[in-house]
Parts: sequence; structure tokens; C-alpha cells
Amino acid sequence: MNDSSRETLSSRLGFLLLSAGCAVGLGNVWRFPYIVGQNGGALFVLIYICFLLAFGLPIMIAEFALGRASQRTIIRAYAHLTPNPGPYRLIAPLQGIGNWLLMMFYTTITGWLLAYPVMLLTGHLDFSDPATSFTSFTSSPVQQVGWMWVTCFIGFGVCALGLQKGVESITKKLMMALFILLFGLCIYAVFLPNASEGLAFYLKPNFEVLKTRSIFQIIIDALGQSFFTLSLGIGAMTIFASYSAKRNTLMSDSLRIIALDTMVAFLSGLVIFPSCFAFGTEPNQGPDLIFLTLPKMFNQMHLGDFHIGIWVGAVFFVFLALAAITTIIAVFENIIAMSMERNHISRKKAILRTAPLLFLLSIPCALSFSLLDWVKPLGPDSSILVFEDFLVSNFALPLGSLAILIFCVSKRFWGWDKFLVEVNAGEGLRVPKKLFFYVAYILPTILVAVFITMLILTFVKS
Ligand code: PHE
Repeated sequence: MNDSSRETLSSRLGFLLLSAGCAVGLGNVWRFPYIVGQNGGALFVLIYICFLLAFGLPIMIAEFALGRASQRTIIRAYAHLTPNPGPYRLIAPLQGIGNWLLMMFYTTITGWLLAYPVMLLTGHLDFSDPATSFTSFTSSPVQQVGWMWVTCFIGFGVCALGLQKGVESITKKLMMALFILLFGLCIYAVFLPNASEGLAFYLKPNFEVLKTRSIFQIIIDALGQSFFTLSLGIGAMTIFASYSAKRNTLMSDSLRIIALDTMVAFLSGLVIFPSCFAFGTEPNQGPDLIFLTLPKMFNQMHLGDFHIGIWVGAVFFVFLALAAITTIIAVFENIIAMSMERNHISRKKAILRTAPLLFLLSIPCALSFSLLDWVKPLGPDSSILVFEDFLVSNFALPLGSLAILIFCVSKRFWGWDKFLVEVNAGEGLRVPKKLFFYVAYILPTILVAVFITMLILTFVKS
């Protein structure tokens, strides 16, 4: 495909909502609330917001700059912007693979979220004993692979309709629906009895948590969460800037996307914590919070004789599924565009090549809790799902972000001056030249330090 036949987005809103759709996902609606729960509430939220602005913002701007300047996906962007990409010849395909690895487990969890509202409404979920229902669901290979494939069909189906007619237009509608459901659920949750206790847990800093959890662990969780939620490090965001015009500066666009992403994460917590306190459930349950704890809560919700919990639960899971599906569509678009670019083929042909491969590569994770439950790459509590998430979240995202930063600031590659010209093209807030020292030295040093601390805490302690 040559440059003139490259598709573009129809509007700025399309670009903002697509990027926000990629960012808003399981990280916001599932990971954020439980990580906040485990790390003692508001203290963590405060650290997290600082990290979003100090680390997330510059890296997001850098990812976008690569895409908008090169009009390429991450696998071709570096070579387009510098005559001698050196190590980036290897880093680029690794970042491409990061997108595949992410989808290899994301499709399974999204499948659960699609299945849950159906199971709730058809009476296939035993409310009083959600743990047994969850275990029997995840240990059925047919159900797991089936729902994972439903997810893949939806994602590839939307991408097959084209960039503007499929990806852009459908993501816009899904994001609108997501906001409506989220606001509805929030209003319901904050008016529940005892909601104020939940709000206090969520919004008042609690220093008690430091007695049981090291501050390093809290910092690492906050940093990991900020990369994951903003989709940074593997070029997932690069693609959308490559489809967009240079009308606005990248700082203005990035701030809007971060604000939308943070709002969804924050409001998801506003739904979950008051509900937990209203129905006497523990908010610090970890990853199982959504599937094991919340159904018990829906079981208790009655309006007179009417079991309103079934409907609240179904709406809640549909909301989660919407968030996950917009990320699936965004990353599938990236995977398809990479294949189109690499092999010079049409969208349809690229889908025919990538879809069957992704179906196959996602199977091991879908079988994590059944036929392949004996595979425990990270010790007794782990699984294929945990392992794939670990590789993406702890290696691909932070190391990929570091690589992108170095490329943008180093004269040997792209260089700060050319980078700034791209970043500041258009109307809106500009990145000042004097931030060079911060972006080129302080930021990478902190990233390396946190990465090494993460390795020590993970491998030495256990
Ligand atoms: N940001 C997505 C989420 O919050 C996950 C993601 C990470 C997507 C990295 C793309 C790249 O769920």
C-alpha cells in the first residue's frame, strides 16, 4: 500500500474517542478498582494521578509523535524517521509482538465479560455461590474457547468494515453507550445506604496501609497501572495518530485522552466501592473482585419483590464488556494495519491472515483453567493468563516506553528538535524546549530504577 491510499480518520472527535477507546479497557474497570482496594484507597489514587501526568503524558505524546510524523505503524515508524535505526530494527517487531501477546489473554477475559450478562439473565449464574459458577465456567474448555472466539469475531468483524465505517464509527457509538451506562450506575451506587463509607475508603488517604504494604510496592503498582491504562509502550496508540491530521498539538490531544481515561477509572471505583460497603463485601479482594464478590452483592439487591440485582448486574457487565471491546477493536486495528504495511496487502487479506493466527494463539490462555491448568510458569498460584499478563505489563510496556523515549530525544535517532516540531504542530498547548533535561535524563533514569526494583521485588522476594 502506498501513502496516498492510506486511510484517515474523519474527525478529531474520532481520533480522541478511538484513542480513549484503546485506553479505556479492563485496566480501568477491572484492574484499577482492585489495585486501589489492595493499596489502601486514596493514597494510591494520589500517587497514580501524579504518575499519569509525570510519566504517562510525555510517553503518550512521544507515541503519538512517532505515528503522526511517520504515517506508519510502530513497526515501520522508526525506520521512516531516521536513516539508521540500529537496535530499533529489533525493537520495532518486538513491540509489534507485544500487541499480539496482549490480545492473547485480553480476548479470554473479554469473553468472560460477554458471557456474564448472558449467564445472569438466563439464570446460569448461581448468585448465592458465584465462586462455584465461576470455576465451572472457567474450567469448561468449550465455553472458554467459544466466548473467546465470539470476542475475536466481533473485533475482526468491526475492523473488516473499514477504518471510518467500522472502527471509527462503531467505537464512537460504543464509547457513548459506555458513558451513559457508567453515569447511570454511578448515580445508583452513590445513593445506596452506607455509600458514604465506601466513598471515604476511596477518597480519603489511608496511611495505615503502609504498615502492611511497602511504599515501593505501591509505587510500582501505580506506575504499572499508569502504563497499562494509557496503552503505552507497544505502539498501540501510535496507529491512531498516524491516521490523523496535524490540526492540534499532541499535548492538547493527550491531555484530553488522559482525562477521559482517568474519569472512567475513577467513576468505576465510584460504582464499586459504595456498593461493596452497602452490601458488606470486602473491597480488597484482588483480581477476583468482579467475578466472585460482586455477584453476591447483586444477589442482595431487591426492590420489594423484584430482584433488581439481576438487571443491575447485567448492565454492569455490559458496561465492562463495552470497555474491553473498544480496546479489542483498537488493538486488532493495529495488528491488521501492521500486516497491511508489512506485506503490502489489502485490509481484507490482512484480516484473513491475522484472524486465524490470533484465534489459535489465544487458545492456550482460554484453556488456562481447564486442559492447561497444570502449566504454572510463575509458581503455584500462576497460570498461562497470569504469565502473559506479566510479560506484557512488566516487560513489554515499561521497556517499550523507555525505547520510545530514547528514540525521540537522542540525536543518534530522531532527536529532541525534530521531535518538538512534530509535537507542537497545530493549535493548543505546546511542550517547552527546556523540558529536554527532564524527558531525556530524569524520566529514563526513574523508569530504569523502577524496572529494576520491580524485578527485585518479584524474583528475589518470592
Ligand atoms: N489500556 C488498556 C486497558 O486499560 C490495555 C492496553 C495496554 C491496550 C496496552 C493497549 C496497549 O485495558
